[in-house]
Amino acid sequence: MNSASNANSGGKDTEVRTHDIPIADAMVEFMKVGWAPSPLDGVTAHPSIPYTKIRRDKVSKQFVGKRLIFPSGSLKVRSNDSDYQFRAHSAFSWFTGIVASDCVPDSLFIMEPTADGHQGLLFIHPRSPRDNNEFYKNTRYGEFWVGRRMTLDETETKYALQVKQIESIEEFLSDKKETLLVRGQDPAIDKLVVEDTESEKEFLNYISVMRAVKDKYEIDEMQKAIDASVRGFADMVRIFPAATAVPRGERVVEAAFYGRARLEGNDNGYPSIVASGAHACILHWIKNDGDVLPGDLILIDAGVEVESHYTADITRTFPVNGKFTQAQRNIYMIVYKAQQAGIAAIKPGARFRDIHNACMVEIARGAQELGVLPISAEESLLAENGLHRRWQFHGSGHHLGIDVHDCAHARKEQYSDALLEPGMILTVEPGFYVQPDDTLFPEEYRGIGVRIEDDILVTESGAKILSNALPRHPDEVEAYMAKLLK
Ligand code: GLY
Ligand code: MN
Ligand code: MN
Repeated sequence: MNSASNANSGGKDTEVRTHDIPIADAMVEFMKVGWAPSPLDGVTAHPSIPYTKIRRDKVSKQFVGKRLIFPSGSLKVRSNDSDYQFRAHSAFSWFTGIVASDCVPDSLFIMEPTADGHQGLLFIHPRSPRDNNEFYKNTRYGEFWVGRRMTLDETETKYALQVKQIESIEEFLSDKKETLLVRGQDPAIDKLVVEDTESEKEFLNYISVMRAVKDKYEIDEMQKAIDASVRGFADMVRIFPAATAVPRGERVVEAAFYGRARLEGNDNGYPSIVASGAHACILHWIKNDGDVLPGDLILIDAGVEVESHYTADITRTFPVNGKFTQAQRNIYMIVYKAQQAGIAAIKPGARFRDIHNACMVEIARGAQELGVLPISAEESLLAENGLHRRWQFHGSGHHLGIDVHDCAHARKEQYSDALLEPGMILTVEPGFYVQPDDTLFPEEYRGIGVRIEDDILVTESGAKILSNALPRHPDEVEAYMAKLLK
């Protein structure tokens, strides 16, 4: 597209791309006049406000006297002057509550130490006023190019934070106060803040572990993401007949889910895995360029990320033509039982790793029943053996939230060895994958890959399956498909 002036200059309006049209002085003058005020209507306080305040109070008490910086991150170049769609860093979103459509690249949230805690300061690139050229010249920030951003006042009203112009940041940071920064998100800020690797690692660890127990706002947002994803799974099943009619039908299925993610949410929470036939045995199959063939299974791992950035993470494995073969059902039932066992292990006071161990008992037993384990299931389950892991070499779940693999900077004792608490949201996702060249299995089993993944809330009394609306048992899956495809 032709621009009136500059390329992605991050605020400067002097760079001119080869295909840009020169601007006459007369036009510059003309663009300054004749604009009516255009305030945003209906800016009201966001429901995240009481919750983000509690999070900030907690981190403030932990890091007394230190300046804390959470960058939103910057636009990332896809190619030449095209950027990827912007997605703010999760810590920035979590401490501010700012939703995707209000996030401005290159923003910073700073918690500035005060005598009795910290004062939150949000630095943003606000709406471009009509008295400079940015609004029509700047392809990265100009309103004519990327749309209206909020003013400082509008942002303050919506998120109850004190808001400043990002242009003042260099001066603000020039006092070199002791600072903890989420590093690696904004190269300009990384350069301005003296690095202390150990302290920053501890900081990252603390703010990561803080997210393990979800508050009510988060649980509600997660349920929205999951419900939208459940609708996205129905969209995909409905499109199976069309997907089987063309080459690269996996793309047809992938696109159906993406439509739902964009309609109801911000984006996919992660690249969808749409794996038909033996592609299901490739754990991170995201090329999604295979054919979808009747008679095969199709494994789909997908999640809608809602505007608040919370994401679902759900996997189902469907028979493309609506009916499992006996071999497919045999593998499916191993995974089904493993998942049931994993979910049953969830209750306050259990350890996170108990979930995987419970799943593994069923995976090992299943392999034994199919006659492919050279030793007994019990022997295989001993730490020094683990032969059954040939058919499920990934873990059986993880924390889920604003990141699909949430709490990623937790240490082992804070994660797999930790006790489960009400409010945690976890996935349970065992699988069984018979590689197409696995000669331990008879021919009809080779290339069958099954995973079932659900999103589970730890409750006071046990577990609630937030994604329960999507059927899991093979009979229910067949009935569900028959209804959608009739
Ligand atoms: N979709 C990524 C995962 O299941 O962990
Ligand atoms: Mn997962
Ligand atoms: Mn998944």
